[in-house]
Amino acid sequence: MLIRKPDDILPSEITSEAVWRSRRELMLRAGLVAAAAGLPGWTMRSAFAQEAGILPGKANPVLSVMDKQTSFADVTSYNNYYEFGVDKGDPAANAGKLQTSPWAVSVEGECGKPRTFSLDELLKLAPMEERVYRLRCVEGWSMVIPWVGYSLSALLKQVEPTGNAKYVEFVTAVQRENMPGVRAAILEWPYVEGLRIDEAMNPLAMLVFGVYGKVLPNQNGAPLRLAVPWKYGFKSAKSLVKIRLVEKAPVSSWMQAASQEYGFYANVNPGVPHPRWSQATERRIGEDGLFSPKRKTLMFNGYGEQVASLYQGMDLKANY
Ligand code: MTE
Repeated sequence: MLIRKPDDILPSEITSEAVWRSRRELMLRAGLVAAAAGLPGWTMRSAFAQEAGILPGKANPVLSVMDKQTSFADVTSYNNYYEFGVDKGDPAANAGKLQTSPWAVSVEGECGKPRTFSLDELLKLAPMEERVYRLRCVEGWSMVIPWVGYSLSALLKQVEPTGNAKYVEFVTAVQRENMPGVRAAILEWPYVEGLRIDEAMNPLAMLVFGVYGKVLPNQNGAPLRLAVPWKYGFKSAKSLVKIRLVEKAPVSSWMQAASQEYGFYANVNPGVPHPRWSQATERRIGEDGLFSPKRKTLMFNGYGEQVASLYQGMDLKANY
């Protein structure tokens, strides 16, 4: 199969923030016009997919950052979810068709008690916490997001990983009829990601079910996704269906598409540029204007205290 490298799709095809903002303003205006003209609400429904139910979590100040939070509107409308298209507005516009019920996640591989968990079981597995995390995308933008969920380790412990479980592979949903993006050969589907087992067991690695006290909107990875805040955003796989404990390092979709650009670790590292983008600075969505100076990117996205020890003695240039 012909794989289009990110080279081919970025940056020309992926909407810049400026273009996306002006499009969104147009859409909002169109919505106001529709409302004023008494047109039915469904005219805007696909653009601002699903009003979600509530999902509160107890604030976890220890694992939260104090940065100003990105608005709910930006968090839910400026997204990467290539199964729904490569434009930042595509996921919000197209993800309404994603079928999130019934949903189950199979946790299998090198473990004593492999098992399939229903979404209801997962929702009850551990107390829901709200954690405000930074998200740094390899494209150079960032957000600050109040996720709701719990540590991934709570789920992994349930299946009792064996000594051979050195890595964890995350496999996400493919719904051909509902996901226009999977008809394009941008990546090999399903979207796959991986973590080393000690990374996956770090309390910061989070299984997310909600955002801003609401059930995850589809475009953010409903009904459950990862949030791994010290790594570039692409590690945080959306709409998980399978978690495999494995002995060898999984090959992620991005590694498979362009291994010279995307490595297994993908730790946020201002000192190691991506071949096409410096990683030294970033623009915080909704805060840093196009002409204001960019802010400095922090090593491990500012989570060094919690995670630097995982990489002691490793060459982080070679292991990018
Ligand atoms: N998960 C799947 N299944 N498909 C994707 O295209 N994109 C990744 C990640 N998870 C992606 C995915 C990228 S590049 C980023 S930056 C984050 O999701 C974005 O998460 P957000 O839209 O909630 O901000």
